[in-house]
Amino acid sequence: MNIVLLGAPGAGKGTQAQKLVDDVGIAHISTGDLLRAAVSAQSKLGMEAKGYMDAGRLVPDQLVINLVKERLQQDDAKKGFILDGFPRNTQQAVVLDSELESMGIKLDVALLVDVKPEVIINRLSLRRTCRDCGYTAAIGVDSCPRCSGEMYQRDDDRPETIARRLDTYQNQTAPLIEYYCGRKILKEVDGDRPVDEVYADVRSLLGL
Ligand code: AP5
Repeated sequence: MNIVLLGAPGAGKGTQAQKLVDDVGIAHISTGDLLRAAVSAQSKLGMEAKGYMDAGRLVPDQLVINLVKERLQQDDAKKGFILDGFPRNTQQAVVLDSELESMGIKLDVALLVDVKPEVIINRLSLRRTCRDCGYTAAIGVDSCPRCSGEMYQRDDDRPETIARRLDTYQNQTAPLIEYYCGRKILKEVDGDRPVDEVYADVRSLLGL
């Protein structure tokens, strides 16, 4: 199964993706995680991306598109994938369509995790992320329950950057809801409920 996850920053895309990966064993392709790994490694891409990420803006399309194209070629993606955080605008969606077509693959579902902005601001301000594996939890957890790595606050989870990310989402990413609606593959889940309740709906919408 090949899935695109849509939703505002902090809607719970990564949380639901991780549950699906554990359950179904498909590849989790998170452009945010790939970019943060590049920043940590201080690669050329990471150095270029960091300023955009810290400012809550989108990293230039070509940088992200190349990253995703490479990742889609890896073996684990052949069993199916969840794209989390990509596409982020119409240009990326069009490129994704043409890349998948050239690989003979089709998207099955674009799944929107829908959460109101006020809930999101609260969630992101409280979020802590594992430096090593990217696991997320609310503040209060000092070491990662999965790998014992250090939990830290992402630079872009500070209030002024959260507001910018929400604007970026509204202006550039939200139009993809119409895009995938037009393709008749859009499904929507109410993400403002306990994680397991949201996930039960995700499973049912995906026919699992
Ligand atoms: P990215 O890492 O993709 O960030 P994002 O889309 O802003 O999404 P988040 O990771 O913040 O949130 P999420 O929806 O995964 O929520 P989570 O599950 O963690 O991107 C970061 C930056 O990279 C971008 O700003 C941009 O600069 C750049 N970038 C990335 N992709 C790009 C692209 N394609 N093009 C250009 N630039 C790109 O949950 C959030 C919190 O809520 C957690 O603490 C979690 O435990 C909690 N939570 C989750 N679900 C629930 C629930 N149901 N109830 C209560 N709490 C919950």
